[in-house]
Amino acid sequence: MADVVFQPLSFRNLTVKNRVFRSNISGRFDNYDGSGTQTRINWELKFARGGVGAIISSFVPVHPRGRIIPNYASIVSDDRIPFWRALGAAVHQHDCKYIMQLSHGGRQRDIPDLEHPRGQSSTDKRDPLHGFECDRMTIADIKEVVAAFAEGARRAREAGLDGVELHGANGYLITQFLSSAINDRKDEYGGSLENRARFVLDIVRAIRARVGKDFHLQMKISATEFNNALLILRLEGAGNTVQESAQVCKWLVEAGVDAIHVSTGSSFPHPRNPAGADIDVSLLSHTYEQLASSGTNTFRNLLFFHNHLTAELFRKQWVDAGVTKDKIEGLSLADARVVKQAVPVPVICTGGFQTASVIRKAITAGDCDAVSMARPLVANNDLVKQFAAGKDRADRPCTYCNKCLVHVVEHPLGCYEEKRFPSPEAMLHEVMSVFQPPPFP
Ligand SMILES: Cc1cc2nc3c(=O)[nH]c(=O)nc-3n(C[C@H](O)[C@H](O)[C@H](O)COP(=O)(O)O)c2cc1C
Ligand code: SF4
Repeated sequence: MADVVFQPLSFRNLTVKNRVFRSNISGRFDNYDGSGTQTRINWELKFARGGVGAIISSFVPVHPRGRIIPNYASIVSDDRIPFWRALGAAVHQHDCKYIMQLSHGGRQRDIPDLEHPRGQSSTDKRDPLHGFECDRMTIADIKEVVAAFAEGARRAREAGLDGVELHGANGYLITQFLSSAINDRKDEYGGSLENRARFVLDIVRAIRARVGKDFHLQMKISATEFNNALLILRLEGAGNTVQESAQVCKWLVEAGVDAIHVSTGSSFPHPRNPAGADIDVSLLSHTYEQLASSGTNTFRNLLFFHNHLTAELFRKQWVDAGVTKDKIEGLSLADARVVKQAVPVPVICTGGFQTASVIRKAITAGDCDAVSMARPLVANNDLVKQFAAGKDRADRPCTYCNKCLVHVVEHPLGCYEEKRFPSPEAMLHEVMSVFQPPPFP
């Protein structure tokens, strides 16, 4: 019998050759102003060559104020289209589809850029983790951002990409509207679930009006928010349940969404996303220095990470709020199942997948139609080819150590787990390989 992992998956407007998607994974590969580089193309080609059916891009800002850190390629203007066209064409040469993640950070950021020191959000409360300040969006602001998402979709289509994904997960702007914990508005965009969903539904309708019905559109959602996972977040409450999110997904599909990508966690990072076996606080105390001058809590956090006792307290809280290592693979499958039962469109599930038999079982059981992977593919770019050759798991799998995550605010994105490599030099050689070929050979 044919292996379900390698059966094509058909959406309304798109067919993908297998059931493994590269999940969104952001790295600082581009220019300060958000124009793209050869380095990002090199990065994406690693996964296209490795056999995934589709790549879902990293966080791509649709609006200049929606940026979360400098050096992420954006889609804020038409002059960005040629870069994305070149990237899409390169990926397509490997029979791999490319879906752009249309994004806006809102109040949740890493390093604000020079031009936009303040974020904007459904609320005027600072983000509780780093303390980045933000303005409560007016109706005019909402209309402007909705139009920016529609323009982003139109530009992605003109660039010849295969679809777009709304970043409605992990605490960014769309989550800030959807979330019962974060959204404290008194107008038609706050209060009831219906009102909180209005912003994202406006975006879906605006995109459909701009690009028509025949362009793939999916939504990534944090099905269960777990906004009370950390002491620091508890003041805001637990956030949306999977049942509330399933209702939102039904409305999204009615409004024109073609697929749902299930994630978890009301912030990024969150103890459950990307779920880690542990967190290396001494490494964090180095790279977090990058943030120390921006948010109102960041200097306090840095001191916390530098002091041995408080660092250990943080580490313990983070680890306790997550899941044990044996539960990381497929940790959102129960949520995916609830969403799948609520909607008639395909469901993609993210979180820890790296074993062919686990993926096969999840699809066969009807919990999801496909999986997306981020860290396991960073560790083993060719994992899908390994599956095709009959391997159930890579010889040196991702350990979920999250060193890639902790490094990324300062260093090139890549796998930094030394024990996966024969030597530290071999690890750095692999990390730096993203700069080959160079832009000016
Ligand atoms: C360094 C890093 C950057 C990420 N960037 C994004 C992003 O830009 N957009 C997004 O939706 N998810 C992002 N994620 C989350 C992943 O897409 C994925 O959903 C999560 O890591 C769980 O999957 P995994 O266990 O396969 O890594 C990122 C994860 C990591 C580790
Ligand atoms: S550093 Fe490597 S092993 Fe650790 S989580 Fe990231 S990809 Fe996996």
